[in-house]
Amino acid sequence: MAVMAAAPFLLPALSTSAFPSGRSLPNPSQSRGTIPCHPKLRHSSRTPVAARSASAGESLLLAKADLLDLISDQARGVRTEGNASRRAGIVRAIDALALYGKDMVTTGPSLSATWRMMWTTEKEQLFIIKNARLFGTETGDVLQVIDVGKGLLNNVITFPPSGVFFVRSTCEAVSPQRVNFRFTSAVLRGNSWQIPLPPFGQGWFESLYLDEDIRVVKDIRGDYLVIDRAPYSWKE
Ligand SMILES: *[C@@H]1O[C@H](CO)[C@@H](O)[C@H](O)[C@H]1NC(C)=O
Repeated sequence: MAVMAAAPFLLPALSTSAFPSGRSLPNPSQSRGTIPCHPKLRHSSRTPVAARSASAGESLLLAKADLLDLISDQARGVRTEGNASRRAGIVRAIDALALYGKDMVTTGPSLSATWRMMWTTEKEQLFIIKNARLFGTETGDVLQVIDVGKGLLNNVITFPPSGVFFVRSTCEAVSPQRVNFRFTSAVLRGNSWQIPLPPFGQGWFESLYLDEDIRVVKDIRGDYLVIDRAPYSWKE
């Protein structure tokens, strides 16, 4: 079907055959930490509190806190799949935050970072998160590592302590919020093995809102992602 139908974190449908049989990944020694929920405001030029009931900065703070609160118990989107009303609420919160981001340039240097997926509607990612256990592991951080200057983007799924699946892409900012990308190669790597996989597609995503903590993304397939900045830098 649509090879074009790619997403920022799009992965090939992983089947058990994608993993070397008998080489199940080690159990993670750590589970994913709790999602940081410390919405902060960038230096906002505040109007006196008396002037309005809530300044624009305070409204933004509330919108962001609302979104982070709604996703905080959703297991990165796994629980949302079975709850249409929560999904609708989260999408409303995303739309609200996107209003604050509508004039932002989100494809500049501030996009270069190791980003960590907090919540998504993308089925491939949720499939892996749900099913990693079948392969004797658990899904660790799911990352998007972007270097805007070099035009490189890696989508990374970690299987702690040492397993990783990543897809290399080239990427290019084509508008204030849209980035086009094209997969170039993919690697499934364990402690002592590594499997290169063929490239498989291209697509785009738009960062609708971005700040020093989080980014909110909609992609070519209409999927949503809420991402925060990882407290570390991922390197191949
Ligand atoms: C589904 O979402 C609604 C609205 O957020 C919530 O009140 C309800 O408890 C959720 N149901 C489940 C089973 O999590």
